[in-house]
Amino acid sequence: MRLGIISALHEEQQGLVEAMQRPYKLIHGMREYVVGHLWEIDAVCVLSRIGKVAAAMTATTLVEKFGVTHILFTGVAGAGDAAIRVGDVVVAESLVQHDMDATPLFPRYEVPLTGLTHFLSDRRMAVHLLEAAQRFLAHDFAAAIEAQERAAFALQQPRVHRGLVASADEFVKGRERVRALHAALPGLLAVEMEGAAVAQVCFELGIPFGVIRTISDNANENAATDFMRFVKSVAARYAFHIVRQFCLGWRDGLPAAGAAPAQASRDSAGT
Ligand code: ADE
Repeated sequence: MRLGIISALHEEQQGLVEAMQRPYKLIHGMREYVVGHLWEIDAVCVLSRIGKVAAAMTATTLVEKFGVTHILFTGVAGAGDAAIRVGDVVVAESLVQHDMDATPLFPRYEVPLTGLTHFLSDRRMAVHLLEAAQRFLAHDFAAAIEAQERAAFALQQPRVHRGLVASADEFVKGRERVRALHAALPGLLAVEMEGAAVAQVCFELGIPFGVIRTISDNANENAATDFMRFVKSVAARYAFHIVRQFCLGWRDGLPAAGAAPAQASRDSAGT
C-alpha cells in the first residue's frame, strides 16, 4: 500500500508532515508532495487547496506520478443535517457533486457519461476510518483538545457519523441553502468542496479512497467565522490523531475485515 493523504488547507494537515519518517519533498504543479512513512505506512502528504478542480488535479497526480494505491482525504466540512454538531466527525459512505446540473441532458447531479450521481467510498477504508475516529474520541480527545477550546466550541460528546457527503465549488453559508440541499439529497450529512471530485477521480482510475471530515460549522450565516476559528485552533488535532489511529489500525489489520463498526451512529437524520 502507498497512501496518498490530501487536505485542502495547511491547518487540516498540520502535524502529519512533521510526524513523517524519512521525508522528502517534491514540487509538482504548484503543490508540495511529501513522501515518507507515517506509523510504518508508506505515505504521500499533499495540500490540494480548495475546490473540486484543485482536488481532482491533486488526486490524479498522486496516482499517476506518485503511484499511490489508496487515497484518504481529511479535512473539515459544514453540517448538512440539523442533528450534526460542530466537532462531530463524518465518514463518507458516498459522495455527490451538488453543483452538477447538466439537465435536461442528464439527470440532476449525474456526472455526465458516468451514469452516476453518487460515488461510493471504499468500504474497508470507511470501516477503518470509523474505528479510527471512535478510538480518537475515546482515547485521545480529552488530552488532544485543550479544555479551553472544548468549552469555546461546546465540544461535549462529539459523535461519529457515516453517510452522504456533498461537494461543490460553493462555501455553503445560509440556513435556507443548507435546508434545501438536505431536502434535495436524502441522508445528507456534510457539505464541503473537494470530496466528490476526489471520488470521481478515484472511481475512474480504480483507486480505493476514503473521506473523513470534522464538522467546523453549521453551513449557516455564521459559517465563515466558525470555520476560521475551528480550522485555526482545533481541526489539525482531529486530523493528526484520526490519521494516526487510521495508520495504526491499518498496519495492525484492525478491525477484522468486514466487521461492523463499533458504536458509530448511522446518519443522524433519524434513519
Ligand atoms: N467546509 C467547511 N465548512 C464548509 C461550508 N459551510 N461549505 C462548504 N465547505 C465547507
